[in-house]
Amino acid sequence: MLEKIKETATFLKKEYPVMPETAIILGTGLGELVNHIDIEKEIPYQHIPNFPVSTVEGHSGKLIFGKLGTKEILAMQGRFHYYEGYDMKQVTFPVRVMKQLGIKHLFVSNAAGGMNPAFAVGDLMIIRDHINLFPEHPLRGKNFEELGVRFPDMSEAYSKRLIDKALKIAADNNIKVQQGVYVGTQGPTFETPAEYKYFHTIGGDAVGMSTVPEVIVARHGGIEVFAISVITDLGVEGIVEKASHEEVQKAAAAAQPKMTLIMKKLVEQF
Ligand code: HPA
Repeated sequence: MLEKIKETATFLKKEYPVMPETAIILGTGLGELVNHIDIEKEIPYQHIPNFPVSTVEGHSGKLIFGKLGTKEILAMQGRFHYYEGYDMKQVTFPVRVMKQLGIKHLFVSNAAGGMNPAFAVGDLMIIRDHINLFPEHPLRGKNFEELGVRFPDMSEAYSKRLIDKALKIAADNNIKVQQGVYVGTQGPTFETPAEYKYFHTIGGDAVGMSTVPEVIVARHGGIEVFAISVITDLGVEGIVEKASHEEVQKAAAAAQPKMTLIMKKLVEQF
């Protein structure tokens, strides 16, 4: 695994020698942020050695090097989901490569179903913590000390410093934000009403099918993390709505400007 990570990082350094310290995973709700990046180099995933190959789900995406404001950044347009059939080492491989490239801060977005009764469709939720319910752990197997310790601390998976900054940006721009615990599940089914209730009972405010593996691997490597969910459907007891991919995309698109503004200012500012 180490050789593969190094090989990929060496390839990318040759392609683009200026290495940023900030990376963004452009998940659902953040696709538009790409329009704010002064793109200097784009590399399709299929041209990057050792990157997971795309599945039937569609195009696999690309890595983007460029500037957001004055800040050099590396953005992932398109991520790898466990439900697509990748194993956890594949899902998190790009984050390993980021670490090898010297990335120090990672910003992530996703779409999630809201279980907290105070939430509404279209809300943004800053992730304060997570519950990992994926069936496979990304750190399972031999630990490479070079990548991180065997038993990583998870007491502050999501940086309080960055959460505070994001809350201030939201307040200054009159954007309502929720905060809460993200439950990461494998999907691809949305939850049954009983499952939403269960996830809320164990402490979850929102549930989704990504982010947790990437965050675990980032923290293993000591990368500071900020993540935000757009609430695209509700799994609140008594009002569980029918969830569909189309509804999720529609709600995410509507919330996109708020999400983009917070992320952009946060990345530029710190
Ligand atoms: N459950 C799981 N993943 C999701 C949901 C949901 O309700 N909404 C968007 N992604």
